[in-house]
Amino acid sequence: MRTTTLTIRRPFDAHVHLRTGSTLRAVTPCTTARFGRAVIMPNTEPPIETVAQAALYKKEILSAVPSGQSFDPLMTLYLTKNLTPADIEKGATHDVCKIYGVKSYPFGATTNSQYGFRSILEAKDIVRTLEETGIPLLLHGEVHVNEQGEAEDPYDGERLFIADTLPRLLESYPKLKISLEHITTIEAIEFMEKNGESGKLVATVTPHHLLYDRRHAFSGGYRALLHCKPLVKRHEDRERLRDMMKKGFPFVYAGTDSAPHPESKKFSSCCAFGVFNAPAAVELYAHVFDDIGALNKLEDFLSVNGPRFFGLAPDIDTIKLEKKDWHITEPIVTDEGTRIFPIYHAIHGLGNEVMRWKIA
Ligand code: DOR
Ligand code: ZN
Repeated sequence: MRTTTLTIRRPFDAHVHLRTGSTLRAVTPCTTARFGRAVIMPNTEPPIETVAQAALYKKEILSAVPSGQSFDPLMTLYLTKNLTPADIEKGATHDVCKIYGVKSYPFGATTNSQYGFRSILEAKDIVRTLEETGIPLLLHGEVHVNEQGEAEDPYDGERLFIADTLPRLLESYPKLKISLEHITTIEAIEFMEKNGESGKLVATVTPHHLLYDRRHAFSGGYRALLHCKPLVKRHEDRERLRDMMKKGFPFVYAGTDSAPHPESKKFSSCCAFGVFNAPAAVELYAHVFDDIGALNKLEDFLSVNGPRFFGLAPDIDTIKLEKKDWHITEPIVTDEGTRIFPIYHAIHGLGNEVMRWKIA
């Protein structure tokens, strides 16, 4: 019989960008309508690099949660040159603002990555502290600038990271907990299928990398709403990623990487990296899992495996999805009047994109 409704534990987003100020106020409700908890990325301007800043940021997020909804933002720190081992230790046990991860961005690779190290292998004291405290290292796993100081081809960045950086990191820090964020390539998938381990080495997957390959990104012109890091890859990579979802690994789960940018930065001479998917993220995952005949794996992927990595139980609340076609016709508009266009938007998306699942 065809499945037409689904009830699953409230999803967990292991990777979301909420920004600050008016953008945060506009986009947070999109996330809280779908997810009970989310791991909040720290690449704000300025970056979140102390527990005190994370605590203030957490307050700002909580004040944007619509009344009547519950939402638990799990805070992270940005691995900048100012981050100290002492602050990480403080965050490991902090009662108001426990730190759930430290995020590494390779210098120059993406939005606000100018505060990161060129390579995670250079941040020895910090990584050692993470290994000792048990706080996960959240990796943007791309080599952007190599050891010779040259920029790498952005289509090769993840492959290079998997071939060289990640094995060295695992060898030097055997107890380190690692989450490889937003995996996109066959190489990353094969590495994870071989070495992934629940509670130790996990990976997140976005809806957009499951939905699109670079033919979509270049269909009819360059598609600004699909421009993100890591870049969407070849068809073969996307197929392999979908195939991985069918296997239901306990160490693979949802991290939307929803990354809002104002219209002026997306439709500009220098298109910002970031796909804004929060207004439909859960629905899009359901859409893909339905397409590949893996709806029976959706709940673990969305709601169970993520919390488990962070030492948490699945949500006790549930959400219901129903099979119903819908489109996104409007942008999200901030209280300052700035428009933010989501993926699948009827005009700025690929056109005629129909979502098959809706939150009931
Ligand atoms: O596409 C991306 N956008 N990738 C990232 O790593 C960062 C994000 C953002 O913050 O806009
Ligand atoms: Zn991100």
